[in-house]
Amino acid sequence: MSLLDKFSLRGKTGIVTGGGQGLGRGYCRAFAEMGADIVVAEINPDTGEAAAAELRGVGVKSLFVKTDACEKRDLEAAAAAAKSLNGRVDFMVNNAGIVQWKEAELVTGADWRRVMSINLDAVFYGCQAVFGIMREQGGGSIVNIASMSAHIVNVPQCQASYNASKAAVRHLSKSLAVEWAKYGIRVNSVSPGYMSGPMAGRFWSDPEIGPIWKSMSPLRRPGEPEELWGALVLLVSDAASFITGSDFVVDGGFTCV
Ligand SMILES: NC(=O)c1ccc[n+]([C@@H]2O[C@H](COP(=O)([O-])OP(=O)(O)OC[C@H]3O[C@@H](n4cnc5c(N)ncnc54)[C@H](O)[C@@H]3O)[C@@H](O)[C@H]2O)c1
Repeated sequence: MSLLDKFSLRGKTGIVTGGGQGLGRGYCRAFAEMGADIVVAEINPDTGEAAAAELRGVGVKSLFVKTDACEKRDLEAAAAAAKSLNGRVDFMVNNAGIVQWKEAELVTGADWRRVMSINLDAVFYGCQAVFGIMREQGGGSIVNIASMSAHIVNVPQCQASYNASKAAVRHLSKSLAVEWAKYGIRVNSVSPGYMSGPMAGRFWSDPEIGPIWKSMSPLRRPGEPEELWGALVLLVSDAASFITGSDFVVDGGFTCV
């Protein structure tokens, strides 16, 4: 197989949670452009349907499955739908996530559980949902979306719950990589820095926050969603057959300084 063929996703089937908007929607697009069939596992039916229609327009098979990623059963249904496309599930991207900015002393139990439920529990359930299928077929690739907040403490905003959840995603991914290596299942995480888009992009123009983030960023700008695609495509492709238990920091150098 040529190196180019190893990067191709033609014939592969994958799932992206939170694939209806933002970075997840971009991952879906990238995978489709590389030839993969995709299940968009999204809680919002409007964006989820639109994403799946966009992917079909690219020429691949795509289904939207309404999924609350905090619910194991929903994730299992998304996995079953993906298997129904081509009889296997080659990759799973656990991307759905939220951030809450609040001083730690003000974070309620409900606040904490909500962040942990979506950012951490859902990632674990997503991994479990595809495990049986991947073991049976002899392998697969799981990519869990962490954050540079798994490595550093962001300022000036207070987001202890997010930082803790993402650090846990990073180490959960390493733990599963070790446990599931014997089944041929690779598990990695990706840690994006500040990206343009709904979650962080608008704060770059905030008069208080923007200058602080900019002064801390070697590239002096947020990343564009497309600038994450190379890492994602590599990790789910056969070109990454020896990459497991890794965390890919894609942050324009933010965590270096
Ligand atoms: N945007 C950034 O700068 C940045 C940086 C580092 C990490 N990340 C991480 O990347 C991921 C995506 O971020 P984004 O900026 O695209 O966010 P976003 O808010 O634009 O998109 C998140 C998507 O997840 C969906 N979602 C939310 N809860 C869900 C649930 N329970 N079940 C299923 N879907 C659900 C939303 O409907 C939405 O479509 C998150 O895990 C986030 O923490 C983002």
